[in-house]
Amino acid sequence: MNKPKALSVIISVVVALAAFDADGSGSNVFSPYVNEAGKIRVPKNYRTGWTFLGTWSIASDKVEGGAAGFHNVYTQPGTIEAYRKAGKFPDGAVLVKELLKTKTGPLTTGKVSWGDEVEGWFVMVKDNQGRFKGNPLWGDGWGWALFKADNPMETVTTDYKAECLPCHLPVQQNDWVYTYGYPALKTKR
Ligand code: HEC
Repeated sequence: MNKPKALSVIISVVVALAAFDADGSGSNVFSPYVNEAGKIRVPKNYRTGWTFLGTWSIASDKVEGGAAGFHNVYTQPGTIEAYRKAGKFPDGAVLVKELLKTKTGPLTTGKVSWGDEVEGWFVMVKDNQGRFKGNPLWGDGWGWALFKADNPMETVTTDYKAECLPCHLPVQQNDWVYTYGYPALKTKR
């Protein structure tokens, strides 16, 4: 094998490996969490290997002063740095919003709610190139998907325009993201 050929073989192997994430399951080069048809899945290692962006506490109408749920938002390592530099999410950035059930009780700190089981996940994948035209889960610069806790591989979303966009309209100017809930995007710490 001549040298340029050997190099190109090595490059192809590296590119192929890059398409596999820590979960070990393969996908296209654009994102390890999106297949060729634009099917999105929940990244397995977001809790152990990703960056925590912020939490939304949903007030309970049953337990006074308690939280009915927490929405924890995670993104890949490097997204915060890229956002601080460019003022926008980079192509391929993934936002995972984990929905947690809660428990509330008296602790030594006072009346406290804490996270319990996962109820499901909302996932957004940044797509600057309009890759999946005609796919009703992709558009307006993102892939959009909701997953129930029992199946992180199969989205239950069928149409992002009907199921996601209306509720994200208030933050259309922020590229559809509730960025004000993620202080890490602006605070230099
Ligand atoms: C009932 C209104 C509502 C619907 C429907 C909705 N969202 Fe959201 N979404 C929100 C709000 C409000 C937030 C931030 C505050 C919160 O979680 O309570 C948010 C946050 C998110 C986040 C975290 C990143 C961000 O934008 O701050 C993701 C990811 C997300 N939504 C994805 C989706 C997807 C995908 C769909 C459609 C399958 C969807 N959402 C449908 C209201 C909604």
